[in-house]
Amino acid sequence: MRPAIHDDAIYSPEYVEKLFEQMSATYDRVNRITSFGFSIRWRRRCVEALDLRAGMHVVDFMTGMGEAWPYILAGIGAAGRLTAIDFCPAMLRMADKQLPEYPEHQIALLGEDVLQCSLPNESADAVVATFGLKTFSTAQIEHFAAAIWRC
Ligand SMILES: C[S@@+](CC[C@H](N)C(=O)[O-])C[C@H]1O[C@@H](n2cnc3c(N)ncnc32)[C@H](O)[C@@H]1O
Repeated sequence: MRPAIHDDAIYSPEYVEKLFEQMSATYDRVNRITSFGFSIRWRRRCVEALDLRAGMHVVDFMTGMGEAWPYILAGIGAAGRLTAIDFCPAMLRMADKQLPEYPEHQIALLGEDVLQCSLPNESADAVVATFGLKTFSTAQIEHFAAAIWRC
């Protein structure tokens, strides 16, 4: 059973998972239109701020459909490893469809709650979560920060 670190139903994993299940078909388009295309630029600048280098292991928390992958993979190259985590099956299915676009890269897709992350301690060189925090409560953000620190 998941620990209750959300005090409001809108932050429950079940609610958020269902929300993205319903949004999965249009998420990318709506995101681009409602941000006037800035979401693409923000995502790229967020990843660029990580100063990634070839061969690194990067964890993309709340990966969605892999929107940040092109920038991450450009930084870590074929020698690097990308672990992409999301708990929404519909978003993961869309992410899975992106894999053939990157045949030379090592990408592992994990279907799990990032707040219950199974990654080993100190296994990542860098982590990123583009547009992932807005569905978290303050307590969940603190919990997530601890998970990031551990990985
Ligand atoms: C707003 S989308 C962001 C997707 C992508 N990172 C981007 O840049 O567009 C948020 C994603 O986080 C996932 N998500 C939300 N809470 C999560 C959690 N606790 N564990 C795993 N995935 C989660 C949702 O399923 C959704 O795919």
